[in-house]
Amino acid sequence: MFNGKNILITGGTGSFGNAFCKYLIENYKPNKIIIFSRDEYKQYIMAQKFKRPEFRFFIGDVRDLSRLKMAMSGVDMVVHAAALKHVPAAEYNPIECIHTNVMGAENVIRAALEEGVEKVVALSTDKAANPINLYGATKLASDKLFIAANNMTGNRPTRFSVVRYGNVVGSRGSVVPLFKKLIAQGVEKLPVTHPDMTRFWISLRQGVEFVVKAFHRMQGGEIFVPKIPSVRIVDLAKAMAPDKEIEIIGIRPGEKLHEVMCPADDSHLTLEFADHFVITPSIRFYDKEIDYGKNPLGETGSPVEIGFEYNSRINPHFLTIEEIRAFNETVEMEEA
Ligand SMILES: NC(=O)c1ccc[n+]([C@@H]2O[C@H](COP(=O)([O-])OP(=O)(O)OC[C@H]3O[C@@H](n4cnc5c(N)ncnc54)[C@H](OP(=O)(O)O)[C@@H]3O)[C@@H](O)[C@H]2O)c1
Repeated sequence: MFNGKNILITGGTGSFGNAFCKYLIENYKPNKIIIFSRDEYKQYIMAQKFKRPEFRFFIGDVRDLSRLKMAMSGVDMVVHAAALKHVPAAEYNPIECIHTNVMGAENVIRAALEEGVEKVVALSTDKAANPINLYGATKLASDKLFIAANNMTGNRPTRFSVVRYGNVVGSRGSVVPLFKKLIAQGVEKLPVTHPDMTRFWISLRQGVEFVVKAFHRMQGGEIFVPKIPSVRIVDLAKAMAPDKEIEIIGIRPGEKLHEVMCPADDSHLTLEFADHFVITPSIRFYDKEIDYGKNPLGETGSPVEIGFEYNSRINPHFLTIEEIRAFNETVEMEEA
């Protein structure tokens, strides 16, 4: 899939971008890997880390269409990972989040269409399903832009799909690094916002592998959702520090008690496959008839029951405290 190809990753210096690049060079022989992001220092650190001839570092902002077009010249595949993703920051600075996550998405689409990119996969989040915060709302708007973009391709080869997944264990600003820092500081109690809170749980490696699979599976217009376990945040605290007390501190701005990946209101559009779900488009693509029930890998999916919701509270797969500990240790080993 990626051998001999030119691949561009917006937000390539982020957690996902670094892990995706590592996976690419370990498993494929791409011609070029282009990193597109704003901060020169993060690019410098990444260039030092990878030190390989395939890499190109483009400083640019997804808000800047002309720069994106220049970067996408000759590119075959794009992963759109650039985003502002801090929930409280988005609540306080909504227009900044809209510019990057919504207008940036539109620019990625336009540049990909104009430069004849073959496949674009945009990263989404569980927070985009039934959003209650601005970050989630911008990611839902972005998802809608990418799905609808398949109607603008005409005779062009470009196809757009979305991958939606939940909390990446250990990612910047998330709960595991926070608990680790507090444990190292020797605090007596770990803060949990609500005793019932649950989250979907995925490692960066699993996220990367799912995105790679999406490039193989995609026909254009799908929202791919992996089947992954849930955790109770109080169990996470017990797994990381069995002897510490838990302090309930209250729900933060824009925070949900439970996350959703496939909303009940989309159940008439949702197909279940062995290890994932596909939310099919609510709109028709006028110049193509796509059978989403069978993907290019030959995997088949069938409609879920009307009213079905894939929700971190009622997920049939919860990790026990022991399993959370083992999962987190594996993640640490993979990222070491
Ligand atoms: N981490 C999670 O738990 C999680 C869960 C589900 C989905 N996702 C999604 O996965 C994607 C990647 O997340 P991540 O964890 O890798 O994020 P991250 O570590 O915060 O990285 C974000 C990347 O985006 C770049 N960026 C931000 N604003 C930009 C702009 N205006 N123009 C160009 N580049 C920009 C950043 O670099 P500069 O600042 O240098 O520009 C950085 O390279 C996001 O779309 C996120 O919504 C993440």
